[in-house]
Amino acid sequence: MKSNPFSLTFGKHPEKYISRYENTDMILSTFSSENPLSHTYLIEGVRGSGKTVLMTTISQQLSAGKEWIIVDLNSTRGLMDDLAHRLYDSCSNIPKLLDKGFNVSIAGVGIGIGGSAGFQDSISIITKLLSAAKKKNKKILITIDEVMHSKDMREFASQFQIWLRQDFDIFLIMTGLYKNMNAIQNDPALTFLLRSPRIILKPLSIRQITSQYEEIFEIDEPSAMELAEITKGYALAFQALGTLYWEFGKETPLDSILKKLDDLLEDFAYKKIWESLSDVERDIIGCINTDKTKVLTIRNQLSMASGTFSKYRDNLVKSGILMPESHGYVSLALPRFYEVTRLF
Ligand SMILES: Nc1ncnc2c1ncn2[C@@H]1O[C@H](COP(=O)(O)OP(=O)(O)OP(=O)(O)O)[C@@H](O)[C@H]1O
Ligand SMILES: [Mg+2]
Repeated sequence: MKSNPFSLTFGKHPEKYISRYENTDMILSTFSSENPLSHTYLIEGVRGSGKTVLMTTISQQLSAGKEWIIVDLNSTRGLMDDLAHRLYDSCSNIPKLLDKGFNVSIAGVGIGIGGSAGFQDSISIITKLLSAAKKKNKKILITIDEVMHSKDMREFASQFQIWLRQDFDIFLIMTGLYKNMNAIQNDPALTFLLRSPRIILKPLSIRQITSQYEEIFEIDEPSAMELAEITKGYALAFQALGTLYWEFGKETPLDSILKKLDDLLEDFAYKKIWESLSDVERDIIGCINTDKTKVLTIRNQLSMASGTFSKYRDNLVKSGILMPESHGYVSLALPRFYEVTRLF
């Protein structure tokens, strides 16, 4: 028997991939153009929507071309120090990029021997590495997954802006949750990020999900469509339902597959999403059932003024949890969110 082609591993490019052609192409063509309109992109979306996968897909495509050096930074570590180390490692692996003197000039600050350079030292090493890379026509892409609004991020972003002004070929893609991205973009010290294009991840195409399910499970189109619609285009749900259907297949009643789906969604994302919500946000979600729900009904139930409600709705929509519907209705953007969180 063939092995299960679906994957619940976060961040890794999955074997069964639904293309985000528009987003991918926009970033790739901007970064590759002679005169890039932007050197940064922010990818924003709810947990499990596919931010890391999109960023990885783009960096893998770029790294296939010889002119790119990709450096993946970990936002839980000191960004500047991390960049100095990783960029140095990458540059050392490229023949003739660094001249012999380079090693000596940075030996004192401990790069390359596992030591930790000071903040200013890191900046000066990185600047030298950027110059060396530029001489060889190399472009640098820095990726930072799951950014937070921290002191470290501020310092990194302000320095990045200086490097841009110095005309280095340096690019940045960051992913994050709406809340964190917003905090970063609203920081007056980080105005240049305010101008960075923000890609807000939309649901995957139901049409593409349908045709993949149809082909993989060898089922008819209406049955595939029924499964696809359950996922609401949520990337994690596409993989999770796929995995379960592959394993339990056509013999198991859909209801019992859905119960297993709820367990997976809860463990992999919904528990964390729920924990990040405030009490009022939870109350609002508690008023919305599986179908779309009238705003007025929710407001009445919670005795909430229209202006107050709008503020919360706005935040929940931007966080990828609520979906605005026409004529004063809202619905849940995430599949099975009602069924799962009802039990919390
Ligand atoms: N374009 C896609 N097509 C198919 N599956 C996808 C796609 N993008 C992501 N996935 C799947 O969705 C799940 C979550 O993806 P990913 O790790 O990129 O999410 P994320 O937005 O980075 O989540 P988190 O905020 O928790 O880090 C994984 O199982 C991944 O395989
Ligand atoms: Mg991620």
